[in-house]
Amino acid sequence: MNDKIILFDKTFKPFIPYQKIERAIDSVAARINRDYGDSEDVPILLCVLNGSVMFTAELMKRLKFRCELVSMKLTSYQGTQSSGKVRQVMGLTSSVKDRRVIVIEDIVDTGATVVDLVDILRGEGASDIKICTLLLKPQVYDKPLKLDYVGLEIPNDFIVGFGLDYDQLGRNLRDIYVLDTDADGTPDTLMDLKNAGKMKYYVLFGPPGAGKGTQASSIAAKFNLCHISTGDLLRKEIAAGTELGLKAKALIDAGELVPDEVVEGMIWNKFNTEKGVNGFLLDGFPRTIAQAEALDAMLDKRKESVTALLALMIPDEMIFERIKGRAAVEGRADDASDETISNRIRTYHEKTEPLVNYYKGARKYNEINGTGTIEEVRDRIFSVMENL
Ligand code: AP5
Ligand code: MG
Repeated sequence: MNDKIILFDKTFKPFIPYQKIERAIDSVAARINRDYGDSEDVPILLCVLNGSVMFTAELMKRLKFRCELVSMKLTSYQGTQSSGKVRQVMGLTSSVKDRRVIVIEDIVDTGATVVDLVDILRGEGASDIKICTLLLKPQVYDKPLKLDYVGLEIPNDFIVGFGLDYDQLGRNLRDIYVLDTDADGTPDTLMDLKNAGKMKYYVLFGPPGAGKGTQASSIAAKFNLCHISTGDLLRKEIAAGTELGLKAKALIDAGELVPDEVVEGMIWNKFNTEKGVNGFLLDGFPRTIAQAEALDAMLDKRKESVTALLALMIPDEMIFERIKGRAAVEGRADDASDETISNRIRTYHEKTEPLVNYYKGARKYNEINGTGTIEEVRDRIFSVMENL
């Protein structure tokens, strides 16, 4: 493998050598041959362009049953992560009606595209749909849809090569490379320096139950921001049963904070991998003075700074009322007992509220009345953001 690859403004380092990719494809092909080897019908392999072109070609060479190739090209709307947002840039090159289809994907991350694709294929009358992906990011995959054939699991990093691109470059690399963040995120090229200072970094602040999560999606959609909730990220780790999740669970269930360095690492990773947004909406981070200082240091390295803190404020009695309401609907473990809720409120006053003065000192503090209807609060937030 080459040592390092530079594409536009980014440096990538070796990650998965071709030999390992080949072994993964051998194993996926063996499983598909076992399942389809004695088919009487002719199943369709659906190549999702452009990324899965290399994987499809390598996989097809290894399949020992009669099969057809159909292609299509999709694109996700930038800056959104939810389902229902893919667009067909090029429709199916052939009908899938009453046919068994194996979808060939290069990579599945949140799974939003693949969920929409399955809906499209059902609508087109496919009789059976299986999903085959070379790569899966289990840390971010959060859809109930079963992935039938997975080549390799990888962390939530930004990668190129073997069909995957960075702004259309890098697809032709035989091996897979990962974004080199060891270069500590310092802008290392002229292009990074030129873009520095253009991204927005909003902190959505407030006590538990203030409505941060409720308001975040409409703010992120309106201003094309990537919403990062450290609470949601931690709950995903818990649900996936990772080592980090197991450690975090006891603290969260008790209403305590997890260690600063854990959440700081998550935020840093997101800053370095999200593309196509105008900035970030941080929900539940920073939560201590140390985290606020770490955030300033991270942004300083990128020649950026916090744009504004949006503080949603509600009285403590209302916190209880709202969290109790949510407990009945969502079943979050840390909403279940009065004791945990009280401890979260205490933790907020002791460790998080000091950030009010920190951001007032930096002249970035904007207080917003969080009481009233969801729409009223949303309009107040929009009006503050539009007048910044
Ligand atoms: P996290 O998930 O961030 O929990 P939290 O801070 O306690 O905040 P919530 O998610 O409970 O409240 P919210 O403001 O999002 O309210 P929501 O919109 O849901 O963190 C969980 C845990 O993870 C922490 O305790 C900690 O252990 C750990 N953690 C996370 N980040 C960390 C960090 N940086 N460092 C260390 N540890 C960290 O609204 C609540 C309810 O009210 C909903 O049911 C909603 O429908 C309702 N509601 C909202 N607005 C209105 C309205 N206007 N009118 C009526 N009802 C409303
Ligand atoms: Mg929340």
